[in-house]
Amino acid sequence: MSYKYYSFIIKYNMTTLSQLILGETGCVSYIVFCKKRRECAIVDSFEGFEEDIHEELKRLEFPIVKYVIDTHTHADRKSASGYFAEENGLDGIVKSEITKYKGKKVGTKDGDILKIGNTELKVLYTPGHTYDHNCYLVEDNLLSGDCLFIGDVGRIDLGGDPREKTEMLYNSLRRLEQLPGDTKVYPNHVGAVHAIDSEDKFSTISKEMKDNEALQVKDVKEFYTYMTEGWPPKPDNWEEIMAYNLK
Ligand SMILES: [Fe+2]
Repeated sequence: MSYKYYSFIIKYNMTTLSQLILGETGCVSYIVFCKKRRECAIVDSFEGFEEDIHEELKRLEFPIVKYVIDTHTHADRKSASGYFAEENGLDGIVKSEITKYKGKKVGTKDGDILKIGNTELKVLYTPGHTYDHNCYLVEDNLLSGDCLFIGDVGRIDLGGDPREKTEMLYNSLRRLEQLPGDTKVYPNHVGAVHAIDSEDKFSTISKEMKDNEALQVKDVKEFYTYMTEGWPPKPDNWEEIMAYNLK
C-alpha cells in the first residue's frame, strides 16, 4: 500500500470521507462512503495509483461505486477516472458540463445534487484554476480540488486566458468564503511537493480566510499580479497530460 489514508466521519448516519495521500506525490484522492447504503463515490483518482483506490475499497468492504468524479481536468497527473468508470459500468465520469473532455461523461451544473446512499454531494461550479473546475460539498466538508489549497490557491497559467481565469478564480474564492467558517477544506494537493508550506492535511474556511495569502487580496487587479508573478515552474509535460485527460 503506497497511500496514507485518513478516515473522517462526516455525518451522524455513518458517512465517511477517506483521504488518500498518494505516495510522495502530494496528490490526494477521496472516497465518500455511505456505510448504511454501502454506496460510494471516488473523487480524483490517478493513473499509477489505481491499487490504492482498490485497497481502500477493499478496506470499506467493496461498496457499490455510484460515481466516479473529477474536480477538473488535471494538468500534472493522468486521471484514472475513465478506468474506474468503466470498471464499475458507469455512464461516464462526473465532470462540469462545460468540460471539453471527449470521453463518456455525466455533465454537472452548479447546484446539482448527487446522491450517494443517504448522503448528498452538492456541485459548486468554481472555475479559475481551469474552466471546468467543480468543488463538491458533502455536509460541511468541501472537496476543494485545485481551487483552494491550505495556504494557497490553484495556478491559473496552464492554458486559457490568464486574465479571464484570474477573474473566475477570484469570484470562485469569494463564493467559497460565503460557506460557514467551520466548513472543512480537503484539497487535491497537499505538502511541499506542491510548494505548500503547511503540513496539515485539511483546513477550514475560516482558517483559510485568516491565513491564506491569496484570500487577503480583495482587489481583482491586484489578484492578477498575485496570480501571475513568482509561481514555481509549470509541471513537466503539462500540455500533453491535459490533452490526455481530455481524450
Ligand atoms: Fe489541477
